Amino acid sequence: MNKTETVPDAGQSSSADQSPNGVMIRTIKLRKEYRNVVAVRDLSLEIARGDVYGFIGPNGAGKTTTIKMLATLVIPSYGTAFIDGIDVREQPRAVRSRIGYMPDFFGVYDDMKVWEYLDFFAAAYKIPRDKRLKVIDDVLELTDLQNKRDDFVDALSRGMKQRLCLAKTLVHDPAVLLLDEPASGLDPRARIEMRELLKELSRMGKTILISSHILTELADFCNKIGIIEKGELLLSGDVNQIKNKLHGGRKLWLPFRHFPESPKSSWNGSKSSSLSIQKTRMLRKSSVSWWKKDMQLRGARKNRPTWKPSL
Ligand SMILES: Nc1ncnc2c1ncn2[C@@H]1O[C@H](COP(=O)(O)OP(=O)(O)OP(=O)(O)O)[C@@H](O)[C@H]1O
Ligand SMILES: [Mg+2]
Repeated sequence: MNKTETVPDAGQSSSADQSPNGVMIRTIKLRKEYRNVVAVRDLSLEIARGDVYGFIGPNGAGKTTTIKMLATLVIPSYGTAFIDGIDVREQPRAVRSRIGYMPDFFGVYDDMKVWEYLDFFAAAYKIPRDKRLKVIDDVLELTDLQNKRDDFVDALSRGMKQRLCLAKTLVHDPAVLLLDEPASGLDPRARIEMRELLKELSRMGKTILISSHILTELADFCNKIGIIEKGELLLSGDVNQIKNKLHGGRKLWLPFRHFPESPKSSWNGSKSSSLSIQKTRMLRKSSVSWWKKDMQLRGARKNRPTWKPSL
């Protein structure tokens, strides 16, 4: 860390505007390499104040690595990023006071009550003791967990834990939220509740970057979308424009196999016989099982064309 770095108190983050032209998240050729894997490949993007940016991609696309670099938890190999105009490499602690980071897993917190969990994080963000109770009440109300205040954290359901995790990211009133798959593993009702909560945060003026595998999950409340695959940002921009682009270019994926002894004749009718039809059926059946086996052996993912989010 840069030794001259100053760390603003929690609560000052939203008011201290350093972002040029209202850009709250900016990455410049951000790259992360792990030995022989390029997890994030020269990613450049800009997210404006108040944007809700959906970061979509399949498993291993580089979403978590990108978010962790923005959250100052992973050091970029090359390039850099700015949160509210502050360089994540130069002033990581100042960046942390401006962001609320929700990881894609919930840590183990044995013997800790909900309010104690929130108090712990509020204290870590240097919120004065006399203000913490009010802050805790506020975030519990926002996440609809008031009646769980005195429950043990490890006794909460998954959906409640996810909401508590989100509550924790809000205690210091950050301007930017980095949410890594906040709805993963939730049932449909809990997903809707989470979505309503995120809409509320958006209405409060937060700049939100949220990751998911599924475009439809985010499309109705994100105004911007970025699509990442194999570490590369394939598309980024207005959600409707991107949806149109994707709808315009649907691909059909059909498996083919070359047969040395082609059953073609049975198809064109030139040599139609019960024997050739039977043979054709056999070949068609074997090709399906071959294809299935081949997909299992080589890994289904490898054979697929460029991944597209489900619409
Ligand atoms: N600490 C690490 N060491 C080595 N490789 C890593 C490490 N972290 C991530 N990777 C690799 O970087 C790539 C991107 O991983 P990342 O977790 O960022 O993807 P993701 O889009 O978040 O995937 P998922 O949807 O499964 O959460 C993957 O190939 C992964 O194996
Ligand atoms: Mg991830």
